[in-house]
Order: sequence, then structure tokens, then C-alpha cells
Amino acid sequence: MVGSTTRPLPKPLWLLAELTYACPLQCAYCSNPLDFNRYSRSQELTTDQWIRVLKEARQLGALQLGFSGGEPLVRTDLEQLIAEARQLGYYSNLITSAIGMDEARVAAFRQAGLDHIQISFQASEETLNDQLAGTTTFQHKLAMAQAVKKHGYPMVLCFVLHRHNIEQIADILELAIQLEADYVELATAQYYGWAWVNREQLMPSQAQLVEGEKIAHAYQERMKGKMKIYYVVPDYYEKRPKACMNGWGAVFLTIAPDGTALPCHEARQLPGLTFPNVKEASVEWIWNDSPAFNRYRGDEWMKEPCRSCPEKSKDFGGCRCQAYLLTGDACEADPVCELSPHHDKVVDIINRADNPKNTPLILRNPQNAKRF
Ligand code: FES
Repeated sequence: MVGSTTRPLPKPLWLLAELTYACPLQCAYCSNPLDFNRYSRSQELTTDQWIRVLKEARQLGALQLGFSGGEPLVRTDLEQLIAEARQLGYYSNLITSAIGMDEARVAAFRQAGLDHIQISFQASEETLNDQLAGTTTFQHKLAMAQAVKKHGYPMVLCFVLHRHNIEQIADILELAIQLEADYVELATAQYYGWAWVNREQLMPSQAQLVEGEKIAHAYQERMKGKMKIYYVVPDYYEKRPKACMNGWGAVFLTIAPDGTALPCHEARQLPGLTFPNVKEASVEWIWNDSPAFNRYRGDEWMKEPCRSCPEKSKDFGGCRCQAYLLTGDACEADPVCELSPHHDKVVDIINRADNPKNTPLILRNPQNAKRF
């Protein structure tokens, strides 16, 4: 039997709508597929198809909705989709670089009923920010962060941390204080997609991490009650794996720009699985009955040491995509776990982070996508 599907099935509480892979930025840690360029804009779901997805997912129990990409602002029907989401009763969140935003658009989002806007920055100052984004964006991001707040939204800033900016944590948090941010997410790069090919150049060293953590915790204490700071260390430095996606097909449903339905935004790379498409199947069938969504539900797929591990109901064996990337087998325990027979691979990666190769970052752009 492929996967055990204990009924009743969970609900897809979190719907991630990746509206497009088009993006004006070129972040070297982007989670989009390396071959994103293969999916042309003409293959993207239409407005009507997205509305059908929103309706069907809501009927299945989805409550939280994230609009992401690529850059979701590229879609000119974003306001329409937000209005539809509001009508359906979603709590909607726009995850954006702010490029493609102006104040009129922020007002239109407010009018349409968007609940939350999260703006990502690459660094605390212009030169590094724009270098990491592969384009000039910093000043516009600052202006848009202020516009978001002016229009009554909490200011939510996200900084993806890696070895090139982790030493800026104090400056990042000073910038957030200066901007009067309400929430700051210090999100360490997750090593998938473009971050996977740039892993060696992005992985922070142990010393950087210890220092960064100390500073972040000091600011958390200092800003208690005024600004909420989230700080998560890279899971490669943990002893146990993360409960990725809260389990396969348990809570998260990602719809890629072309309509492919995925249990996580990285799953497309896993071999031997055919992911269904909302152009051809209902969201209900996809979630409840498609073989791909059932593949890693339950624990029958697990190998040892996960199968007999008392923690399997807590971490679900970790991340399937990470297990595949590091071992070539998605049924293995996530090698981040120190009980994994492949944990030495993670230890080796961490050790190499003390003396990384001095090679340039491969920016996520159509030219570089041809290499993969
Ligand atoms: Fe795919 Fe973790 S990112 S299961």
C-alpha cells in the first residue's frame, strides 16, 4: 500500500498560491525551481482558474492564504484575487519584494480586503541589498514599508539570513526599529532550489550563527511588547529535523503558477511522483485521493530509524525534499537528525562552512536557469 491515509483526512488549512515565477529580483536563495524558466507566463493559471482553486480549497477547509511567487505583484489581477479571497472568508497574506507596488496599489489592496503584507529585504543597507537582489530595490522597499504602515497594515519585514548578511543582524534590527516595524522575521535560508546550488556560499559558519543568535536574543528582550522578532536557526545546525510542512499532505497545499498542486513548494523535484494539476482535477480529489498527496502521509513509507522512533509523530521524519537532496532517497530520515545514518553529510557541510569556497553566487535569472 502506498502511504497510509488514516481517515478522516486532515484539512489543507494553508493554501499557498504561487501566482507566477516571474520576478524582477534574482535572489540566490530563491526557493523556486532551478528550471523556473521552463514555465512560461502563458502556462499560468488564468484569473478564473485561480478563483476556482480558491473556492474549492476554501470548501475543503483552507483558511490561511498566501499570495507568493516569483513576485505576485507581477499579476495584474492580484486585486481581483484578493477581493475574491476576502469574500470567501480567507485570511490573506501577500508575500512580496514590494517591487511592482506603489501607494495606490497598497490602497487598492486595503480596499479589496487583503489582511497582511510581508515585505522582504536582502540586507540592512543599500549596497549589499541591491547586490544580493541583483537589481536596485532598497530605496523602493523602504518607501513601500512606510506606505504599508500608513495604510493601516502592521509592518512585517522579512530578512533571509545567510553568511553574507548574518553579521548585519544588529543593523537589520536597528533599521526595523527606525521604520517602526511591528514584526521582523529573521529567516535563515532554507537550502532548496537556488539556495541548494548556492549552499556552500550561503551557509553561515558556527561562529557567525552563535554571534547572530546572541544579538537577536538581546533585541528580542529589549523590544518585548514593541516589536516581535522571530529568529530561526538553519536546521542543518539542529539535532532533530523540523516537522516540515507539519507533515506531508497534512496542512499545506501549494499551487504552482501552472496549476501543479504540491504538498510543499519543493516537491516537484522528487522522482517517481506525478503531481496533479488543478487544470485537470478538482482540489478535493487532489488533496484526498491523488497518489502524490498520499505518498508520504502516515508512517508506512518510513524506513528505520524513523519507523520505530518515538518522535516520528512529532517530526514526521523531517523533510522529504531534504532527505532526497542529501541522500537520493526521499524515504530516508532527514539527515539533519543525528540518528540518521546519513547525518555525517550534514556535519561535513557544517564543517565546510568554516572555510567555504570563494566562488560567486549564482543569481536566479533566466540566463543562469539554462545551466540546470
Ligand atoms: Fe518538501 Fe520539506 S520542503 S517536504
